[in-house]
Amino acid sequence: MAQKIILDCDPGHDDAVAIMMAAKHPEIELLGITTVRGNQTLEKVTRNALNVVQYLDIDVPVYKGMSVPMVIEPRPVEERVHGDSGLDGPQFDELTRTIESKHAIQFIIETLMASDGDIILVPTGPLTNIAMAMRIEPRIVPKIKQIVLMGGCYQLGNVTPSAEFNIWADGEAAHIVFSSGVKVTMMGLDITRKVLALPSVIERMSKHDNRAAKLFCDLMTFFNKGQKKTFGWEGGPLHDPTTVAYLIDPSVITVKSMHTDIEINSEQSYGRTNCDYFLLTDEPKNSDVAIDVDVEQFWDIVEECISLYE
Ligand code: RIB
Ligand code: CA
Repeated sequence: MAQKIILDCDPGHDDAVAIMMAAKHPEIELLGITTVRGNQTLEKVTRNALNVVQYLDIDVPVYKGMSVPMVIEPRPVEERVHGDSGLDGPQFDELTRTIESKHAIQFIIETLMASDGDIILVPTGPLTNIAMAMRIEPRIVPKIKQIVLMGGCYQLGNVTPSAEFNIWADGEAAHIVFSSGVKVTMMGLDITRKVLALPSVIERMSKHDNRAAKLFCDLMTFFNKGQKKTFGWEGGPLHDPTTVAYLIDPSVITVKSMHTDIEINSEQSYGRTNCDYFLLTDEPKNSDVAIDVDVEQFWDIVEECISLYE
């Protein structure tokens, strides 16, 4: 039985690959895509999501969400990595696909309330939409089967020494989600930094003669330029697709149950995911945190998804 998911994202090169994977794999039923400000402004990430679903001819509704975080001022967008459009690199035709009129939060609430509690939320951007939905309609919390998100780290941050971008962009929202009582499966930088879209990976995927392969290669070629300039790496970490790969085959990633809470009071460490890796406290284990990934198996899953496109 395919797993029903809502993908909440801020495309973003890696978000776009996550959309490509989730839209086609038989293990997943993509109910909708919701967008949130993060890598770029809400307008730009929403346009990017529409361009991806149009380019790949994906028949999934796209809903626009929150343009600002819950409390803090909006963070600077990530032009260094994703460019001015937020999805620099690929060339798209004139955009004719349009968003749904319903707000993303309304879609999330209505879909969950009408469900049998079998829907997984897959956030790959800041958690603003998810947290707002929980605050507006608390009855959705027991209806959420699981949250599998890309965000956080128990080692080094990527936007400050201590924080990862998605959490740092809206720490209060992350606090609400991690303390909601819903089990969070956290794909953090600790493992996403092991799946680097190296030139050899791009070469491997380019052998598939279809639009998904072309999109992947065009995205990663640009993505790697930004990563090289910012971090000096030959290949960018393919962060967001680790969520979808885990849903397709959980054996690809090793997780460890532990307590995680979010730092929202410190200036220096705002947005830090404090993961109790060594189980030093008696706090509830509210999160399954990714501690390792089978890199070869991960790329096999990515390639399998690409091969599913005509
Ligand atoms: O820190 C990496 C995360 O921030 C990824 O989801 C990337 O797309 C950006 O949103
Ligand atoms: Ca993202």
